[in-house]
Amino acid sequence: MPATASRELHDVAATFDRLIDRVREDQAQLIRAEKLASIGRLAASVAHEIGNPLGAILGHVHLLRGQLKTDEASREPLELLAALERESARIERIVRGLLDYARARPPAPAPIDIDDVVRSCVDLLRTQGLLAAVDVALELTDEPLFVSGQRHDLEQLFVNLFINAVDAMNGQGQIVVRLERAARFTLRQPAVRRTFADVDGAVEHPPSARAQRWLAGHDAVEIAKIVVADSGPGVSPELAERIFDPFFTTKPAGKGTGLGLAIVARIVDNFHGTVWVTTAREGGAAFHVLFPVVAAPSGADRARHQHGRRATPSTSRARKAHS
Ligand SMILES: Nc1ncnc2c1ncn2[C@@H]1O[C@H](COP(=O)(O)OP(=O)(O)OP(=O)(O)O)[C@@H](O)[C@H]1O
Ligand SMILES: [Mg+2]
Repeated sequence: MPATASRELHDVAATFDRLIDRVREDQAQLIRAEKLASIGRLAASVAHEIGNPLGAILGHVHLLRGQLKTDEASREPLELLAALERESARIERIVRGLLDYARARPPAPAPIDIDDVVRSCVDLLRTQGLLAAVDVALELTDEPLFVSGQRHDLEQLFVNLFINAVDAMNGQGQIVVRLERAARFTLRQPAVRRTFADVDGAVEHPPSARAQRWLAGHDAVEIAKIVVADSGPGVSPELAERIFDPFFTTKPAGKGTGLGLAIVARIVDNFHGTVWVTTAREGGAAFHVLFPVVAAPSGADRARHQHGRRATPSTSRARKAHS
């Protein structure tokens, strides 16, 4: 066979392979979308059923608060009531989030400072005692990085990734959160895949095929690159895509619903980003998330962000902060 004909045949075969990949991916997405639609129906009835008892709980909390004096003896009960209220509000938000998510109607997006969210999620889990035996290393950026979406969604994303990491490590080990600003073109160049080095900076992790297609098709110039890595047992390559399916779980019945990463994937979609998982050198999982960067909010909003940053000096920027 002449060399040109062989080359053409080779090109056709390569195009065909890419098409097959694409069809497989579309099919997987369709299945995911159908599962999401049924979650939506389920969420609607659950939201209805949860709404009434939740309202009653809050009513009782208010009644109890009315019966307490504002003296020292009441300090602890008042704090407990406040915690009850906070957690009830969280349940309400989760149910509402599931509904929004299932309805595919993301609420109006706004610029969010990523590391601000990372820090408040770490604080939240620490308050709940989940990080007692976990060393959390935050590697943040010099300048704040803003992405567009709902703050609550981004919180949910990090909380899900952190809780999964803690579960995988049986509550003990290391979590590294790395945030970087990257130019899209550098992420697309195979030669610069070093950028995807994991926890210790020594392992190369090119984006998954799905993420590479996202990079090829996206017109954002600047990308926020987030890595959440842990020192647990990691995710095997065979499960790397399946873990994002709704109701996929390896946890015993009653322990996990398998919704966490499906919600993460959905949130990433709402932020017009992409997510994939690799294995860190230590064997732990490294979740990579890419989001298009948006401009910082102007005026009053920016002042609020700056204020928030000064108010939490414990996590210094641009250097490794073990918290
Ligand atoms: N950091 C991690 N290390 C190892 N395996 C992980 C990690 N994160 C997720 N997984 C795997 O992915 C599966 C799906 O995760 P997902 O968060 O969707 O559900 P879940 O944690 O099992 O349940 P839920 O989040 O609904 O409580 C997990 O059961 C686990 O097998
Ligand atoms: Mg989970």
